[in-house]
Amino acid sequence: MSRYVGLLEEIYSQKHPDRSIIVELLKLDRARAEDIFLFAERLRSAFMGEGILVRGIVEFSNICRNECLYCGLNKNNTSLKRYRLSMPEVLQAARQVASNGIKTIVLQSGEDDGLDAAWLYELICRIKSDYNIAVTLCVGERSFEEYKLWREAGADRYLLKIETTDKALYERLHPGMSFDNRIRCLMQLKELGYQLGSGNIIGLKDQSLESIAGDILFFKEMNLDMVGIGPFIPHPQTRLSSELQGEVFLTLKTIALTRIVTKTAHIPATTALGSLEADYRIAALKSGANVLMPNFTPAGVKKLYDLYPHRRCLDDSGSICVKCMDNFVKPINRHLDFSRGDSLKKEDEAYV
Ligand code: 5AD
Ligand code: FES
Repeated sequence: MSRYVGLLEEIYSQKHPDRSIIVELLKLDRARAEDIFLFAERLRSAFMGEGILVRGIVEFSNICRNECLYCGLNKNNTSLKRYRLSMPEVLQAARQVASNGIKTIVLQSGEDDGLDAAWLYELICRIKSDYNIAVTLCVGERSFEEYKLWREAGADRYLLKIETTDKALYERLHPGMSFDNRIRCLMQLKELGYQLGSGNIIGLKDQSLESIAGDILFFKEMNLDMVGIGPFIPHPQTRLSSELQGEVFLTLKTIALTRIVTKTAHIPATTALGSLEADYRIAALKSGANVLMPNFTPAGVKKLYDLYPHRRCLDDSGSICVKCMDNFVKPINRHLDFSRGDSLKKEDEAYV
């Protein structure tokens, strides 16, 4: 047994894995990192099986009040045409998600001040009663009362990425936002009984391996139900336009180590990983990931949800993506799983 397998056993079995061991593992070169991927895949297979859960995403508004340094939707990007879908348009997209047999819809938007809480309440109620599918919200930082209202409407899950757990870096990347408020939102969502997702971006300027290791430990401590991890992709209309793209290999190691320490979190092969010089989503699925997210945003506005350049599948409908996914997972002996894919976490694992 290699020394690294011993370290992997250690971070897998410990309640409080050692940050320095995770840093050492994140540093491994390609040949040595093979042990990490094999270990992560063994756990993925044991805990999550060979099914790949499918979540349909609908990006219903690209309006955003924030100025995140990396994101193409930042409010200073005045060259981007803004949209907010109407209720019938979102319901039409939800119908397509449901008619593809998908049991989870992810409703995502920018931090849109014009998003009316009562409107979203009504939308969630209609989706639940018409289609009886799980609803995941991803609309950013809002008040406790709004989170509560949407939960009462029947929303099941919430995604709010921490992006980085390095507080100083977080606050440099997000002018006008506070790290403490982000954490407060995550705690409130948990308290309200949402299945909770978070995640990070890999390869941000000034992000150290120590800070990525801190992110991985945070995912465990928060006992997250879902963790999304993707590489940084520079966008021309942002303040980080001339920075280097995040490294795929480091992103894959982060996914694998997240699988190892969180054990049963749902981890998507993110669209960002599929939007680089090659499609690295398969590599993610072979590094511990177990979720794919076809995009059901209506064709007329899909290109406008411009988080980062060269987003894949912009010319394909959600149903085409589902067929495509079905084809590309078969050769790796996996299959699409159309069940709801609720959390596999147990309460008593929290804050161990
Ligand atoms: N590169 C990579 N990921 C990005 N996101 C936004 N902009 C970028 C970018 N330039 C991610 C953030 C956000 C999610 C919706 O998209 O993590 O939470
Ligand atoms: Fe969208 Fe392949 S996953 S076309």
